[in-house]
Amino acid sequence: MPTSGNGISHRLTNRVALVTGGARGQGAAHAYRLAGEGAAVFLADVLDDDGARTAEELRAKGFDATYLHLDVSTPDDWDAAYRLLDAKHGRLDILVNNAGIVDVTPLEDLGLDVWNRVLSVNLTGAFLGLRTLIPLLRKGTGSAVVNTSSIFGPSGAIGYAAYAASKAGMLGLTRTAALELAPDGIRVNALVPGGVSTPINAQEPDGGVVPETPLGRRADPTELAAAVAYLVSDDASFVTGTELVVDGGFSTR
Ligand SMILES: NC(=O)c1ccc[n+]([C@@H]2O[C@H](COP(=O)([O-])OP(=O)(O)OC[C@H]3O[C@@H](n4cnc5c(N)ncnc54)[C@H](O)[C@@H]3O)[C@@H](O)[C@H]2O)c1
Repeated sequence: MPTSGNGISHRLTNRVALVTGGARGQGAAHAYRLAGEGAAVFLADVLDDDGARTAEELRAKGFDATYLHLDVSTPDDWDAAYRLLDAKHGRLDILVNNAGIVDVTPLEDLGLDVWNRVLSVNLTGAFLGLRTLIPLLRKGTGSAVVNTSSIFGPSGAIGYAAYAASKAGMLGLTRTAALELAPDGIRVNALVPGGVSTPINAQEPDGGVVPETPLGRRADPTELAAAVAYLVSDDASFVTGTELVVDGGFSTR
């Protein structure tokens, strides 16, 4: 297996990838890793300055990276992404539905507007992305989708009703999409991160889930990116409809 100078293998040469929420945090790490393994990567986000900067950093390393403004909850933005991908490559090999937002509100106080917003970004966004891009994924090579869930999807967490519901929904969407798209050779899996050091939880009091995490720390985003790179590579060619839990042991307690 050929590797780049830093020992990372080149499993994704000639693949075309789209990573939502690619401007920063885990999405940026996924974009780095996929590009480092040879993919042409589109970073989609609503944080245009951060996204443009991240794509520029990737290009400065010699990688193929393009930023595009894409609000995952907006069908028209997905249609525009479809047209761009179709015009530039005529296909898509890798889709990482990573964009997400969080809300922490006791159930009794949770407003319908907040509930709808969290569901529309975290779950509907992934649905729209999948539905829109299936025709391009059908034309891809070894096509694979990763949907980012969370340990709060399978487990639930006090104050996280909308977030946990959206992340549990991601698991149902993943399993069903895997069944429907298997005949097309498109694999669909979920990533289930535990605590990860990113801006989304920078304000969390008391280290969030760290006290309940056997490895005693949050993950670095690159540790999740390694899991995504595996799932979308041919190393995972018989892996579909499952969940890859990367949580420092949180779920074993
Ligand atoms: N950090 C954690 O501890 C943790 C744990 C489990 C799961 N997750 C999930 O991992 C994913 C990545 O989060 P992160 O930790 O990198 O946090 P983050 O806040 O750094 O990244 C989330 C990204 O999604 C983007 N985004 C938000 N709304 C969007 C929209 N409507 N359209 C497009 N992009 C949008 C943000 O701008 C941001 O770039 C999220 O789905 C999150 O729920 C995070």
